[in-house]
Amino acid sequence: MEAVVQTRGLTKDYGSVLALDALDLEIGAGTTGLVGANGAGKSTLLKILLGLVPATRGGARVLGHEIATEGPAIRAAVGYLPEHDCLPPDVSASDFVVHMAMMSGLPRVAARERAAEVLRHVGLAEERYRPMGGYSTGMKQKAKLAQALAHDPRLVLLDEPTNGLDPAARDEMLGLVQRIGRDFGIAVIVTSHLLGELERVSDHVVVLDGGRLLRASSTDEFLDATGVLLVEVLGDDAQARMAQALNRSGVATVARGTMLTVDATARASDQVDVHDLIRDTASDLGLGLVRLQVDHRHIEDVFATDGAAASSPEVSHD
Ligand SMILES: Nc1ncnc2c1ncn2[C@@H]1O[C@H](COP(=O)(O)OP(=O)(O)OP(=O)(O)O)[C@@H](O)[C@H]1O
Ligand SMILES: [Mg+2]
Repeated sequence: MEAVVQTRGLTKDYGSVLALDALDLEIGAGTTGLVGANGAGKSTLLKILLGLVPATRGGARVLGHEIATEGPAIRAAVGYLPEHDCLPPDVSASDFVVHMAMMSGLPRVAARERAAEVLRHVGLAEERYRPMGGYSTGMKQKAKLAQALAHDPRLVLLDEPTNGLDPAARDEMLGLVQRIGRDFGIAVIVTSHLLGELERVSDHVVVLDGGRLLRASSTDEFLDATGVLLVEVLGDDAQARMAQALNRSGVATVARGTMLTVDATARASDQVDVHDLIRDTASDLGLGLVRLQVDHRHIEDVFATDGAAASSPEVSHD
């Protein structure tokens, strides 16, 4: 199956700022979470993919269309929820979505039907005739989502749809995002700077950092790839003695509460497998090994721990 998005050396230079740095990326069907800190280049990438902003160098194809030359064909097949407020305050959500659907080529009657449908889908049935200027942030985000879906796109690009939402509204929005992919089979690219919230809704995760690709993998691999072992030992001063012994064997440890975490792919100085080393070390020290298991944590923690481990291998959290 053809990639939904494919970029080749995609570069965007805003004068002194290099927003995208020779990005090579392939995104397939399903829901992809595009994660990165503020300024990582997420919004720039989406705008370039829509053909709204020209690339400085390199290129990309979206649903098989070249961004440089086929912008209209791309925008006909792609829905977009922009990051910033873009809603005319004096217009009702209903009129707005009908208008957007007609702009995309639907006849008036079909546009009305479609608008009613998508507004019901996002949960704006009651309020849809009120001017959007009076909407809460949550309602505005829903109206933005509705217009992105109005013309029955094959792909939607959602730029921080949870931005500014309280926890309940955030959950609701994430549920809607999930349903776009799962129930309607529309490909979704959704951005956030919160890694944890995308883990729930995304089949794939792409991490951008300073305009470059830091990582791209399925969400499952992403979690498995953490490859962290949790170790718990019982006995006098067990945690510290275990940590010292493992460190002497060339394996770094990180304290987490009463447990230790160890990189599952680590090898002792003498090439012994880390699982065997942990068992043998506990036994040599006369400590009870009560836990040796793979740690299934959340994407957010992966980053927090990666950073800490990189800067100093023996971090104590207390
Ligand atoms: N129109 C512009 N002119 C100049 N610099 C820009 C422009 N748009 C973006 N930038 C810069 O490009 C970089 C990437 O910005 P971008 O908005 O794509 O990041 P982002 O990942 O969407 O960040 P955020 O999470 O804050 O939305 C930033 O350093 C930003 O300041
Ligand atoms: Mg942005």
